[in-house]
Amino acid sequence: MAHKKRMLGMLGFVGAGVLALSLAGCSGAADNADSGSDGGSDSELTTVGFVAVGPEGGWRNANEQAIKDAFSEDAGFDLKYAPAASPTDQKSQLDAFATFVNDEVDVILLTATEASGWDDSLKLAEEAEIPVILLDRGVDSSDDLYVTRIAPDNVKVAGSVGDWAVETFPEGANYYTLEGVPGLSVVNERNEGFDAAIEGHDGWNKIGAQTANWTADEGKSVIETVLKENPDLQFIFAQNDEMGIGAAAAVTAAGLVPGTDVKIATIDGTTPALEALAAGDLSFVAQYNPFFGDLAVDAVNDTLAGETVEKTIVVPGETFDSPEAGQAAIDAGKGF
Ligand code: AHR
Repeated sequence: MAHKKRMLGMLGFVGAGVLALSLAGCSGAADNADSGSDGGSDSELTTVGFVAVGPEGGWRNANEQAIKDAFSEDAGFDLKYAPAASPTDQKSQLDAFATFVNDEVDVILLTATEASGWDDSLKLAEEAEIPVILLDRGVDSSDDLYVTRIAPDNVKVAGSVGDWAVETFPEGANYYTLEGVPGLSVVNERNEGFDAAIEGHDGWNKIGAQTANWTADEGKSVIETVLKENPDLQFIFAQNDEMGIGAAAAVTAAGLVPGTDVKIATIDGTTPALEALAAGDLSFVAQYNPFFGDLAVDAVNDTLAGETVEKTIVVPGETFDSPEAGQAAIDAGKGF
């Protein structure tokens, strides 16, 4: 099935009629062989292999559910979901990717647990004429090897954190950065955006940076240590909500007041973060909009129809900079 669809897509509309008639003669054999990993009967559904991260936190759950909802059977898709063995396990993703190529799915969606190490997999998909679309995370491979990357602009999102910080601390601040899992494109892009925003502004003293692996527990334990050694800490840039909420707990445990003694800014926009913002525990939340299932469906359909797709598809978002803004966002259902 996958091959037939790709041939139709490549030939474009004009050739489709001829090709469809010629394939119809062999469709029984081709379709049985192409019935995908489940060995089922022929299907008019577009098979989509989703090489995913799996359970990781609030943002991931919202994003992957949005993809599952968009690529429904009613919308014409057979989505095969393959979460990684753990959020940092690339091998299980590489294996799932290879299985999808072997099963001749029509398209592969990839949210990578690592930015590097994808060249061989992407070349395998290219040889099998299976287009690959990146969701959220980028990869170090040449962009000739994938159709597009769909994500909010991490550099700009982190830049909005830096701009808010510069406005909030006109004399600069002693700050610490809690980073996501090392080796990810989004971690590097968020550092790039924040650093660019504070560059050229005096008084910004980076006490340090460390991964807290996107989790609240690690965010809390890192900041507990940092505060013991740096009682003059003023600001924490947490690259996601969970780490920021953990940092706020550490500030409180140290007998300090988050939002007053130490301000914390985060990225994602989950409901717990908006609640923490409304309560004053966080001071700024930049939304990293997870709801781009429709954009992904459009990109898949355009790709399979042989149409040109932009190499980067940016998902818009917004920022929240006060307790009132946090509460208003909750009331408007912007959390997730
Ligand atoms: O890649 C996006 C990041 O991954 C989110 O900001 C974070 O919450 C998730 O774990």
